[in-house]
Amino acid sequence: MSANTMAVNRITASSAPPPPKTSLTSQPTPTSLPLRSIPGSYGLPLLGPLVDRLNYSWFQGPQTFFKKQIEKNQSTVFRTNVPPSFPFFLVNPNVVAVLDCKSFAHMFDMEIIEKKNILVGDFMPSTKFTGDRRVCAYLDPSEPKHQQMDMLKRSSTVWIPTLTSLLDTMWDNIESQLASGPVSYVVPIQKFHFAFLSRCIAGADPQNSPDMAENGYLYMDRWLALQILPTVPINAFQPLVEIFLHSFPYPYFLVSRDYNKLYEFIQKEGKEVIERGQTEFNLSREDAIHNLLFTLGFNAFGGFLIFFLSLLSTLESDKTGVQEKLRNEVREKAGSSGLSFGTVKEMELVQSFVYETLRLNPPVPLQYGRARKDFELSSHDSVFEVKKGELLCGFQPLVMKDPNVFDDPETFVADRFTKEKGKELLNYLYWSNGPQTGETSASNKQCAAKDFVPLTAALFLAHLFLRYDSVTIAGTSFSAVEKAKN
Ligand code: HEM
Repeated sequence: MSANTMAVNRITASSAPPPPKTSLTSQPTPTSLPLRSIPGSYGLPLLGPLVDRLNYSWFQGPQTFFKKQIEKNQSTVFRTNVPPSFPFFLVNPNVVAVLDCKSFAHMFDMEIIEKKNILVGDFMPSTKFTGDRRVCAYLDPSEPKHQQMDMLKRSSTVWIPTLTSLLDTMWDNIESQLASGPVSYVVPIQKFHFAFLSRCIAGADPQNSPDMAENGYLYMDRWLALQILPTVPINAFQPLVEIFLHSFPYPYFLVSRDYNKLYEFIQKEGKEVIERGQTEFNLSREDAIHNLLFTLGFNAFGGFLIFFLSLLSTLESDKTGVQEKLRNEVREKAGSSGLSFGTVKEMELVQSFVYETLRLNPPVPLQYGRARKDFELSSHDSVFEVKKGELLCGFQPLVMKDPNVFDDPETFVADRFTKEKGKELLNYLYWSNGPQTGETSASNKQCAAKDFVPLTAALFLAHLFLRYDSVTIAGTSFSAVEKAKN
């Protein structure tokens, strides 16, 4: 991304998987690998999917669920079922799991993979949640309307000033409450993200509407939760969760008031972006608003919320003194000249810390792709025949722990993505549904904010360590902050 255009910029792209790099070049080429039929099974009708669903959501959790099947099948590619399923979902839960970097990368090849209506698998939340239309994230690149991605292009000149002023407000508020005890960051972070993303993506300032400034994030939360709850594993309150939260899709009317308020806010405050959607991409006014709202709420707000919670929890759990190292780098690079794209791009450790967090905790863990035609899919050790129409499912937290690519894959290594070797590893950082070195375009399905997301997180950390020498985090609260002494 250039310094003058926001990361949501679309550039021409190759949709093919990235070329193999050092650690994979020693692997046998696909043609020399043995052809194997895809192991695993879908089990008995209804019963197989139900057992898999309970293991995935309750008894084992997603990581163990997929790990155990890798061991059982002696393969990172196998057949299994994923939720939702039985009894009231009209979906096919059968998938082919692809759980290593090499097999997963087939999902980026739009020649062989179709991405129509499979954002969260075969289940698709009702289009009532999105104004009775299929928004961009559900479109395949072959559909002409997918070109509308470029509507998101906005000047980035507002980005850093908006970020720093909103962060200053957030930290001032947190500091003022710290004297009376730990301060939860869950609400402040959400308010910050709602305001920051609304302004950067839609040009809409919640400060112009007291209700939005106070409750906008909450309206987003509820609208989002109802769409994705059936697919989110929840360990607590079982079996009630399985019976009441995972057995049927939720009706839109429960959040229609929330959504209408958000719609009115974007309609009133996001005029410039809406007009661009109408004039440059031939969208109707309603189409532009619903799409903008989906990107803002589902893609951006939802993704950032999960990501920042894991970023802060990574800072909390560190026992290696990483805060001091981050602080030193931030002060060295930006101490005198201040925060800019230029200075942050020089902060190798800060960026690596962000990438390593995305590697171990990819905020959107599951990705899906449907075979457009019959093709041969290779893992590191075998080749498999995939039939047209089969649904591939990749679980990124395991994919990005591929021991063929990452040394000591289970461990958080803050400087993993530094130096030459680290830059090469960016070819296998897939959190955005494509390699970090790839290029987002209207002809693929890589996240429109592939660069915007890690840079924003790096700016957040840089701002934090310019303001504070250290912060003490306990659970989801700040318990102390030590103001910068120099
Ligand atoms: C931490 C934050 C984010 C994460 C983890 C994330 C992740 C992803 C992923 C995994 C996909 C691909 C989904 C799929 O089709 O399988 C995606 C798509 C997308 N993301 Fe992001 N995203 C984030 C933030 C954002 C932001 C800030 C924007 C807004 C500019 C954005 C806009 C989009 C759009 C429009 C798509 C659909 C792309 C297409 O249809 O070709 N995302 N995102």
